[in-house]
Order: sequence, then C-alpha cells, then structure tokens
Amino acid sequence: MPAFAVIGGQWGDEGKGKVIDYLAGRVSAVVRYAGGNNAGHTVVNDKGEFSLHLVPSGICWPDVYGIIGNGVVVDPEVLMGELNELSERGIETDKLCISDRAHVVMPYHVLLDRLEEESRGNAAIGTTGRGIGPAYVDKTARMGIRVGDLLDPESLRPRLEQTLNIKNKLISAVYGAEPLSAEEIMEKSLEWGNQLRPYVHATEQLVQDLLEQDQNILLEGAQGTLLDLDHGSYPYVTSSSPSIGGACTGLGLNPQAIKGVLGVYKAYSTRVGGGPMATEVFGEAADAWRDMANEFGATTGRARRVGWFDAVAGRYSRQVNGLTGMVITRLDILDGFPSVKICVGYRANGQEVSRFPSDTRVLEQCVPVYEEMPGWDEPTASATSLDQLPQNALAYVRRIEELVGCPAQVISTGPSRDETILVEQVIP
Ligand code: IMO
Ligand code: MG
Repeated sequence: MPAFAVIGGQWGDEGKGKVIDYLAGRVSAVVRYAGGNNAGHTVVNDKGEFSLHLVPSGICWPDVYGIIGNGVVVDPEVLMGELNELSERGIETDKLCISDRAHVVMPYHVLLDRLEEESRGNAAIGTTGRGIGPAYVDKTARMGIRVGDLLDPESLRPRLEQTLNIKNKLISAVYGAEPLSAEEIMEKSLEWGNQLRPYVHATEQLVQDLLEQDQNILLEGAQGTLLDLDHGSYPYVTSSSPSIGGACTGLGLNPQAIKGVLGVYKAYSTRVGGGPMATEVFGEAADAWRDMANEFGATTGRARRVGWFDAVAGRYSRQVNGLTGMVITRLDILDGFPSVKICVGYRANGQEVSRFPSDTRVLEQCVPVYEEMPGWDEPTASATSLDQLPQNALAYVRRIEELVGCPAQVISTGPSRDETILVEQVIP
C-alpha cells in the first residue's frame, strides 16, 4: 500500500507542482494534505500552463483522483473559480474529492489576516493574505466551520452565528474595522455548499481504500519544511505542517503506507515574506537574478528574495522528513554563472553553528560559510539525461547530494513536464 510524498525542502516555491505533474501518471491519486490557497503550484504540459492553488497538481491526468484532504483549509470561492477555469480550458475535474473534515477559509479569516498583518507593522510575517493563519487558529480553537457543515444549514447557522459574534467583536473593538454580516456569510455558505456537494467525500476512507487496493498515491506537499509551524523559522512560518508529519494527520494516513519521501529543492534559494534567510543576496545582483529567473510569486506576484543553496537548512529538511531522495529544480537558471556557491555551515557570534538553529534570533545572526565551485557555460536547460549535463553542473549536483545527504532522483531543467532528468525511478 504505497504512498509517495513530494515535499518542499526549502521555503516553498521549489517547483513541487511541476514534479507532481511529472510523477502523477504513475499514481491513482494526488492528495493535498496541508495549507490552502497560499500555495501556488505551476504546471506546464501539452495542455498548457496552469497556476493551481487548491486543486491538486495531478489534475491534467484525467484518470487520477485529485483529493483535498482534511488537513487543508479550503476557500470555496477560490476553489470554484479554479475548477471553472480548468473546465473552460478542457480539463476534466470530476475526479476531484474534498474532505468533509477540511476547514473552510471564511471571509472573516481573510479580513483578519490583513488586519493582523497591518497591526504587526515592521514585524509583519508577510503572509499571502489568504486567511490561512486565522482559519487554522479557529480549527485549533474548535470554532472552525468545516466543509461538511456547509452541506447542513441547520448545524451551520448556530455555529456561524456564535463564531461571527466573537470575530466581529475582534474586528471592530480591537482592529476598528467594519463588522461582517452573518446573513450575507450564511447565504454565501449555503451557495458554496450546493456547489461543492458533488465533490465532498470522506476522503480518509477513499485514501485507505486505494491503498488497500495496492494503488499508488502521491502526497502533494504545499509550502516548505522551513515554513513548517513547528519546524520552520517561527514565527516566520505558515500555520500548518507542510513536512511529512502533516501528511499523516492531514489525510488520516498511517505512516507505514509511506514508501518514499521526495524533497524538492531549488538549485538555489528563494523566500517570499519575512524571516531569516542566511544565504540571501542583495542589491543589483539579486535584482538581476530575480528578473532573469522570473522569481515572482505565483500566488501574490511578490518579488521573491533570492540567494545561494543553503545545505545546512537542506540537511535539516532531509532529517525532519526522512527524505529518501531529492529533486533538484531550476538547475538551468544557474547556466552561465561564472561560479556557484553552496552554504556548508553558519557562523554566529564567532562560533560555528553546524545545525539549523531553532531560535530565529540566532538564525538571524548566522553568517554563511560558503564553498565556491566553478560554473558552467554550456546549457543544462531542457536536458533529459545526466550525460547531457556539463561536468561542472554535475559536480554541483553531486556536492548538494553529499551535503544534504540523499540522492537526486530527479533533476528539473525547465518548467515543462518533459524538461526532466529521471535519474532513478521514484515510483516503481
Ligand atoms: P507553495 O506551495 C512560498 C509564506 C508566505 C509567508 C508565510 C506565511 O507555492 O510553495 P501564510 O499566508 O501561509 O500565512 O504566510 O509563508 N508562504 C509561501 N511561500 N510558497 C508557498 O507555497 C507559500 N505559502 C506560504 O509568503 O512568508
Ligand atoms: Mg509556489
């Protein structure tokens, strides 16, 4: 009963969407287990280019189930918009299933996300503003609205009224903003319920059934390990568990079912939003890098911070997730760089720091120790086999494997599904 996970090894935007689309032809279901429409997963194949936020990235494979598990928070309006757009572009969406246990991102979550961020001033997290944090807060506080509630007006009304009563006090008394109308939200919720009804299932049972039938399933990570609520650079994190533990709780999946955990790493680093990033490059060099690599968010369009590959953070992610292999993406972006650097350690206050610090204040003081390697002039772009890689590019990959501590099973050399080197089969 094999499940294979694809997990962000850095701060998100590693190219998980591309990897999922590439691998999804070998599985029966692609399953999201955490996060919400803060994710922006780009898929490019013969059907076109798609920017997906909630719909699992296997959607272009018509026979593959797309499952949104209980650990995901769902903004119904965004989901319906995405499904409509896919249908208009000729992509079938009837194999999409949404957990009745998944929590709903309500309009007050989106409003509170903005108000909380504004009130943080300089210490803002730089959230995507999609209401994700506030939705998880309510889930944990046991006052969330679940997808199943949308189908049952009688249980929904009292829950919504009770919750909104508290939220409106917060919105008006603490933040001085306009309270929201319960009637309007109730109306919208019932409409969402009607639209989503055909897609709502007990997805944990579907996942378990598929595994018992010995079908392969692919667990689609969103965000990245360094944004994990527990294991990331708190408080500059997202509010869910993008790392492997989140897959068990976010789906109702037993850990023995997981046969492989693939960590996706960009060949360099990017981060969007606040928080420490030891290997960040600044100034004109960063601007040029960002423009050349088009490092702007798929969800918010924000400029991503760019920098060198951080192997200290990379090794930490490998350990947290028990990675069995890695995917290196966007290797082609480094084509033509005269030299490339890898961060192999940190120094803070004159001391060597060999592990990824749990204290964000320590992490903020960490200065990277770099190893510099010669670049390559010949392109890696669009390469489909290892022997097409220039020697120096291959040496760079080998060094990353060594420092992170697991083999590169897939290397991505361009955004399109076929611009991929399959070094070793990931899903048998
Ligand atoms: P994918 O799945 C990159 C970042 C935000 C912010 C922090 C908290 O495309 O890799 P949130 O809205 O989640 O409360 O914001 O997390 N963030 C991401 N960064 N890729 C993502 O998703 C992200 N999802 C959230 O920028 O710093
Ligand atoms: Mg993204």
